[in-house]
Amino acid sequence: MVQNVIIKEYSRLAKIYDSRWKSYSEASTREILSRLSLKNSDKILDVGCGTGFLLYHLSERYPDVQLSGVDPVKAMLDVARKKLPVRVDLREGWAEQLPFADHNFNLVLSNSVFHYIRDIQTALKEARRVLRPGGQLVITDWCYNCFTTRLTDLFLRYFDQAHFRSYSVNKIRALLEENYFSVLQIDRYMINRWWGMMTIKAQRKG
Ligand SMILES: C[S@@+](CC[C@H](N)C(=O)[O-])C[C@H]1O[C@@H](n2cnc3c(N)ncnc32)[C@H](O)[C@@H]1O
Repeated sequence: MVQNVIIKEYSRLAKIYDSRWKSYSEASTREILSRLSLKNSDKILDVGCGTGFLLYHLSERYPDVQLSGVDPVKAMLDVARKKLPVRVDLREGWAEQLPFADHNFNLVLSNSVFHYIRDIQTALKEARRVLRPGGQLVITDWCYNCFTTRLTDLFLRYFDQAHFRSYSVNKIRALLEENYFSVLQIDRYMINRWWGMMTIKAQRKG
């Protein structure tokens, strides 16, 4: 079962994740933060928060916003707990079944997680459910339009059972629109010579 593969893979990686992916995490987090303008009253969920890299930077920069994170891998959350203030609400769970009430957040973020999600339709429905009307979903992930990222994606489809697929700009736009989001902005960029990323900002319709 694929859920076991992801849990096994990230339980194994948890202790070394921050050092192994330091420059990737720093660069992608920088890109995300540069696209956010937050208010003190904001309530934010990070889906697939991993070791809490993005939540840590949000908590440092915005001490008054309410922060939550969800990830299916306890070992990743254990690392996150050690670096985050206690006010950050961390829960074990999957993007496809978020352990939060309806209309709970005004911003849902996710960095480098969507390429693992098998059932993206359900994950988008869940993101929409936990968002307040008019709330925003900001997804950052590998961009299939980028040649080097596409090579990585195709390689991992065969050699890494945890990996599922990355999306092109047009595909992710269509999926969001199908799930009652208005796409506000899609930016493509490289975080180094290899990794082509995209950040998509979408707003819950209604
Ligand atoms: C590459 S790491 C990224 C972690 C974190 N977002 C960051 O940027 O440092 C991918 C994370 O996605 C989580 N993940 C994988 N599949 C998931 C799913 N279906 N729902 C939620 N999280 C998932 C993994 O447990 C892992 O922590």
